[in-house]
Amino acid sequence: MKPALIQLQSYSQVFVESRVLKRTVFITGTSSGLGLSLVRYFAERGWNVAATMRRIDRMNLFADLPSVHVIPMELTDADSAVEALQTALRHFGRIDVLVNNAGYCLLGPLEATSMEQIRQQYETNVFGLMNMIKICLPHFREAGGGRIINIASISADIGYPFVSSYAATKAAVAMLSEVLNVELHEAGVQVKAIHPGLFETEIFDSDKLQTSREMPRAYRPLSDRFTALQNSFPAGNPEDCARVVFRAANDNRPDRVHYYAGRDATLLRRLKRLLGPESAFSMIKNIFIHGPSWWMKWLFPTK
Ligand SMILES: NC(=O)c1ccc[n+]([C@@H]2O[C@H](COP(=O)([O-])OP(=O)(O)OC[C@H]3O[C@@H](n4cnc5c(N)ncnc54)[C@H](OP(=O)(O)O)[C@@H]3O)[C@@H](O)[C@H]2O)c1
Repeated sequence: MKPALIQLQSYSQVFVESRVLKRTVFITGTSSGLGLSLVRYFAERGWNVAATMRRIDRMNLFADLPSVHVIPMELTDADSAVEALQTALRHFGRIDVLVNNAGYCLLGPLEATSMEQIRQQYETNVFGLMNMIKICLPHFREAGGGRIINIASISADIGYPFVSSYAATKAAVAMLSEVLNVELHEAGVQVKAIHPGLFETEIFDSDKLQTSREMPRAYRPLSDRFTALQNSFPAGNPEDCARVVFRAANDNRPDRVHYYAGRDATLLRRLKRLLGPESAFSMIKNIFIHGPSWWMKWLFPTK
């Protein structure tokens, strides 16, 4: 064999091996927000990233990162999800971590929300995510283990008004993660849930946020207080959430399920621990009903 050819072969072998030897994360919903930040965070720390998204117009977002392979995927389409996972396995040879990030928020009083809107919310945030896990599990079993990280929300922990469907889906994701953490222990699969607080992403952009048909007059005072509170609260930098997800993907704590990201989420978790869930809920409820007291403003400084 000619020396140049040998060199070429060894280069391509190194390339193939480095792809296979590096750890690989498969992330859903990477066209914006937390997903986008996660792709960069993992790739910049030496991981291969299978970055799925449904927006073809954003597929060159990671052109500067050679270890990122962008794959089109619509989460609610089971065939699309299977195809995306197979594409990732063909490209990288393995998946070590699945991050179920894709999701959206349905906002508005339950009374004014249609059952179709609620079903859609579950289709994406719960059923799409469960399906993704089911598709990935045979690979993890064959590989002898893996990790599943589900993006839940702090709204799974405490009752905010006007997010009944969204919070219910996120509470489902949080509990699903606990159940699977036990169920898959012997398969070597660690399952974790991330509870982010408020982060600066596209989730509340008008073209993404789904809302109830109307805001009935009876809800207006509560709605005004809710909007004022939400607008005054500083949203976190998505990279801070990516750091928490990265820790969950790498730590050596198979029994730890819940991770909190963002100052608001961390504070709320501490508050629940300190006061107990009932008193913490009562305090948060009072903020929405009567507005924050001076010491709450001090504890939760607003913009
Ligand atoms: N930002 C926060 O304050 C916050 C707080 C707690 C939890 N979370 C959770 O964090 C996750 C990421 O949200 P984000 O805040 O980063 O919002 P985002 O900027 O809107 O990103 C959401 C991502 O999910 C994708 N997605 C939604 N439905 C999809 C579907 N059916 N198929 C494929 N992709 C889909 C979106 O794709 P398109 O661009 O195509 O719509 C986008 O890539 C969500 O699960 C959200 O519930 C966010």
